[in-house]
Amino acid sequence: MSTGKGRVGGKVALVTGAASGLGAESARRLAREGAAVMLSDLASDAGEQLARSIEDAGGQAAFITHDVVSEDDWARAVAATVERFGKLNVLVNNAGISGGGFELMTHSLEDWRRILSINLDGVFLGLRHAGPAMAAAGGGSVINLSSILGKVGMPGAAAYCASKGGVALLTKAAALEWAPFGIRVNSVHPGFIDTPMVSGVIHRAENGNEMREMIISRHALGRLGEPREIADAIVFLASDESSFMTGAELVVDGGYTAQ
Ligand SMILES: NC(=O)c1ccc[n+]([C@@H]2O[C@H](COP(=O)([O-])OP(=O)(O)OC[C@H]3O[C@@H](n4cnc5c(N)ncnc54)[C@H](O)[C@@H]3O)[C@@H](O)[C@H]2O)c1
Repeated sequence: MSTGKGRVGGKVALVTGAASGLGAESARRLAREGAAVMLSDLASDAGEQLARSIEDAGGQAAFITHDVVSEDDWARAVAATVERFGKLNVLVNNAGISGGGFELMTHSLEDWRRILSINLDGVFLGLRHAGPAMAAAGGGSVINLSSILGKVGMPGAAAYCASKGGVALLTKAAALEWAPFGIRVNSVHPGFIDTPMVSGVIHRAENGNEMREMIISRHALGRLGEPREIADAIVFLASDESSFMTGAELVVDGGYTAQ
């Protein structure tokens, strides 16, 4: 069982997309703050390795291979978490894909559906499957990864924006529906954070350096964010420090949307 010490001591968390970027850093920090963490991802090698390294550092962690668009996988991931750690208190719906290069006049319905299915259907399925276990545990906290692009638009990213805007409103509807169960549901809206997702988009662009500078210039703080800065927000929402927050949008964007 998880220890009682730390900001999320005694809690059990399931983090999707935990093999990389924001999910990996969130899993590390939740474990460091006392939670037992089930990491899930499509990327099994990296996920298993991270779970082992958390355990080696004295935390409690396990890994399960999990595609967030599969209902069967969700059922297995929730059951495995409860079987291994006894309950489920915290769900971090983090798995997602970028949607840059989505020009509305040329891109296919298939591309649109792929982005919406991972980024939005995946969050719905997470709520649908984790909800009963969290209610059975007497309540908990769901943290959904939206984006600044769930609040403001960006050319060439229509499907991504639609998916992340959907996550923001799905979060509010779930928060209202689940308040009676003691389950809080909030969304996190990162600016551009230095993860493999963002470096991949910049790397694939013809004018990568220019694009990086342009992205940086849109953040008032004049830099990309670090994964730690989002993971800290996620630990806060997972912990009882945020006990009066539900249905909220926590924007962590270096001032991107302040202008
Ligand atoms: N990095 C940013 O700047 C940024 C900004 C705003 C929002 N976000 C959101 O934060 C989340 C994490 O982003 P990141 O930057 O860490 O990305 P990342 O690419 O570094 O990591 C995403 C992880 O999700 C996993 N994944 C992808 N599809 C999956 C599926 N179908 N099932 C299970 N796992 C799957 C990948 O294997 C990967 O390990 C995403 O939802 C992203 O949209 C990121």
